[in-house]
Order: sequence, then C-alpha cells, then structure tokens
Amino acid sequence: MVQPSFNSKLPELPESIFTTMSMMAKTENALNLSQGFPDFPPDAKLLDCVHEAMRKDYHQYAPLGGIYPLREQIAEKIERCYGASYHPQKEITVTVGATQAIFTAITAFVYPGDEVIVLKPAYDCYEPTIVANGGRPVLVQMKGKEHQVDWDEVAGCITSKTRMIIINTPHNPSGRVFSREEMQLLENMLKGTDILLVSDEVYEHLVFDGLQHESASRFPDLASRSLVCASFGKTFHVTGWKMGYCAAPEYLMKEFQKIHEFAVFCVNHPLQHALTAYLKNPEHYLGLGKFFEKKRNLFIEGIANSRFKLEPTQGTYFQLLDYSEISEESDVQMAERLTKDYGIASIPISVFNKDLVDNRQLRFCFAKKEETLNKAIDILLKI
Ligand SMILES: Cc1ncc(COP(=O)(O)O)c(C=O)c1O
Repeated sequence: MVQPSFNSKLPELPESIFTTMSMMAKTENALNLSQGFPDFPPDAKLLDCVHEAMRKDYHQYAPLGGIYPLREQIAEKIERCYGASYHPQKEITVTVGATQAIFTAITAFVYPGDEVIVLKPAYDCYEPTIVANGGRPVLVQMKGKEHQVDWDEVAGCITSKTRMIIINTPHNPSGRVFSREEMQLLENMLKGTDILLVSDEVYEHLVFDGLQHESASRFPDLASRSLVCASFGKTFHVTGWKMGYCAAPEYLMKEFQKIHEFAVFCVNHPLQHALTAYLKNPEHYLGLGKFFEKKRNLFIEGIANSRFKLEPTQGTYFQLLDYSEISEESDVQMAERLTKDYGIASIPISVFNKDLVDNRQLRFCFAKKEETLNKAIDILLKI
C-alpha cells in the first residue's frame, strides 16, 4: 500500500489516560472510578421527554444555533443562576457537548503563533486543539496538592501574543471552585487587553458546602470577552448524548458560528426538544449540588479510616486521594497497581500536570450508585 506522506498535526499525542484506565479496568474486571460518568440511569422524566420528542416530526436538520425554545431555556437558566442576560438567538449556540464548544471557540479565534494560557492540571482537550490550530499553549501549574492558582504567575505569562486564557471552574481534576475574588482578579487582569476567555463550566451545578459557582457570566467585564462552555451530558447524567452549549456576546458568537456551521452545522434535533421540555423545571438542575454532595459525603466518610489523605472536594464529581503515606510509587504506577491488585481503577493526576509533576494524588469519580461506592470503600479501606 502506498502511503502519501504528511506531517501529523499532533505528533506527540499519547493515548488518553481515560482510555488506558478504562481498558485496564475492563480487562482486570476492576471497579471503574476512573472516567467521569455516572453508573446510574438518567431521570426517567428526561427519558420520557426523549420518547415524546422522538415520536414527533423532529427528524430533519435543526437550525444552526439550536432550536429557539432550547436557547430560550438556556438563557433563562443562565439568568436565574448567574443574573446574566444572553440573547437566545444571537448569543447562544447548542453544541455537540462541551468538547465541541471548546474546540469551536479555540478554532474561531486562535491563529498560528498565538499563545493560549492554560492552567494545569487541565482537561485533556484544550492543548491538542490549540496546537492543531497552530497556537502555543502556555502552561501555568496550579500549586501543590491544594491546586491554588498563582494569579501573579498567570499575569506574568501575558505577552503581546496572548490571544486567550482557558479556565475551568469547578475544576477537573482538583475539584476546586474558583472564588469570587479570583474571578475579579482575572477580570481586572484582562481589562484593557484583547485577550479572550474560554470558561469551561461543565460542572457548574456540582458545587458543595454552600459554595457558589462563580460563572464568568456573573462578571460583566469578564463576560464581555468570554465564551462560556457547558454540558448537558454532565448536568443530566447523559454523557453519551454529547449535548452542550456555548454562551457568548454577539460579536464573539458570530465568529463561533462560522466555524460551528462547517464543523457540525447543527446538533441532534429530537434531543434538543427533549432538553427544552426537561429544562422547564429548574429543580432538575438546582437540586444537583445536594444530590452529589450526598454521594461525596458517603464516599469520604466511608474512607475516613483508610490510609489515604483527602481534602473534601468543593465541586465536580471527583475526589482526589493522597496516597503519599501508603507508597512511594509514582501515581501512574499506583493507579495501575490498584487496578490490577485491588480491583479499583482511578486516574493519576500527573498526566494532566505541567512537566508531569507528581503530587501522589489519584482521582476517583463518585458519580456512582451507593452500591458501587460501598464496594469502592471496602476496597480502599484494605489498601
Ligand atoms: C472539564 C471538562 N470539560 C469538558 C468536558 C467534556 O464535556 P462533554 O462531554 O459535554 O463534551 C469534560 C468531560 O469530562 C470535562 O471534565
């Protein structure tokens, strides 16, 4: 076979750690707390909405930005939660999950040679997308096991080439929820610059202990330069649906939609109707924090007498466990050993860090049935 030669756009891309750990969990028949998805079904009411939508005549293309009623519901949700006003028609686009929203936001604005500041550890889709667009990721490591952001360091990374900053709050994998003060700091830092913000807020409703999610949309000067990306998959326990959205001021959304049009044109039509109906009851998303806080508490109280150390996660459905009193192994070795010898799969954090910094922490997903969490607790107490 003759193979035309070409240069890979992403020559150094390793296999995703999620694929590696999930495969290992499967072959070792281990409990899989590695990848971030629930093992319980979505709300039956949501499924009823889907069945109803499927039986109607929604089987052809939807409008480019999404059906208007869904965009209206999204605008209402943002207004209710964050007091920010987005025009449903001009400032909201329904996407194939948050991943496509983030891909499209980066592709629409990053040119070859542009710099994009990324806080590490970072979700794995940001850097490849920046690089595929010819941009240069400028990595800023969050500090220590607590993952504090050194905002002075972030400010020090800004150059005339900085096109964008990407943030993620609540933050995967650390579970940190950025404070109001931090968001204000960022807002002030970006004032007077041409830097855009991509704010990955897929865990917006998963915030615990009375904390508040500080969406970029709450801060007018920040919102005016932000593309806020969100995920129905994460919010409604349906990660396989790949449904999400982007909210941004009209002048940014216009450019976003130019890329969106030729990447996907439009998104699954019947599911948009189902989500529209389901979003009409705000309880379906406002109750999620409490729902997951209970799961977090069950998990962390269950392992209180284990040899792992932890700080209760502030948001997301991930809990970091510090195993430094148990082993000197690297986090990758430890994650492998726990999967093979103890039958529980997790994610080593170093793979998301700058220079693979290893703080001896593993990430466990607690979006699981009580039964699964109890099994996980039993295993973790034996380690
Ligand atoms: C921080 C973060 N951003 C984005 C995504 C992707 O969201 P979606 O499945 O809606 O594409 C994930 C999924 O794990 C995530 O953790």
